Amino acid sequence: MLPIFMQKTFTYKNEEISYSCQGKGALVVLLHGFLENKSIWNQTTRFLSKNFMVVAIDLPGHGDTPCLGYVHSMELMADVVNELLKHLNKRKCHLIGHSMGGYVALAFAEKFADKMYSLSLVCSNARADSKEKKLDRTKAIQLVKTKKNLFVEAAIPPLFNTEQKNHKRAINKIKKMAHDTSIQGTIAALSGMRDRYEREIVLKFAPYPVLIIAGEKDAIIPVQWLKEQSELPENCVLEIMEDIGHMPFLEDRIMFETLLMRFLKGV
Ligand code: MLT
Repeated sequence: MLPIFMQKTFTYKNEEISYSCQGKGALVVLLHGFLENKSIWNQTTRFLSKNFMVVAIDLPGHGDTPCLGYVHSMELMADVVNELLKHLNKRKCHLIGHSMGGYVALAFAEKFADKMYSLSLVCSNARADSKEKKLDRTKAIQLVKTKKNLFVEAAIPPLFNTEQKNHKRAINKIKKMAHDTSIQGTIAALSGMRDRYEREIVLKFAPYPVLIIAGEKDAIIPVQWLKEQSELPENCVLEIMEDIGHMPFLEDRIMFETLLMRFLKGV
């Protein structure tokens, strides 16, 4: 049975931001990707909470957190994470972001470098969208306005490397999260990702240890980009997970947890 963690909220700009909290020790904050929510981290939370205080947040427009506007910029979402730290009365955290959550983690790290014990990017990267990718996001926004279901059905399966294993259950679970995400939340995140800045400089001057976990078969964030970006920080560990797509914590949970715990314990 899946664990049920303590569900809590805090207020930001008059809206209730939802998060879960488990364990004791140094604070680890988990940021989910686009169309997901905090529950994607349930297994990771269960594992890490043996050694850490683990908090998973619902980013604006996802899970139980409502929209805060029509565009959710990475900076706005980073400010929500900062508010979370203030609410928890914590000075620093290990920040772990998956994909869009990684873009948010980089925006947070840019503003609040002194609040980081470490930064972990999971299938995420510091580059901005290419011109073509920006056009794709704009087209996706148009599609979501009228046919969000079609968008979700097409967007989720390519997140997994289905050549190796049938990920039907996990795909259906994420599709459900994505269908539960409102049209406004979906568009606000697509707009925020499309308009986000390049942040390689954040990696280059990171004063804290950095972990980059890449999926060798990731169709969204090519492993080559992450090999290149892992050269930027002074202190960086790059882990390339063989035969894994964009969802390493679901595709090979044990390996993912082992790599993450080894890094966090070494910080
Ligand atoms: C995600 O998984 O968060 C998104 O696929 C990231 C992106 O589209 O750039």
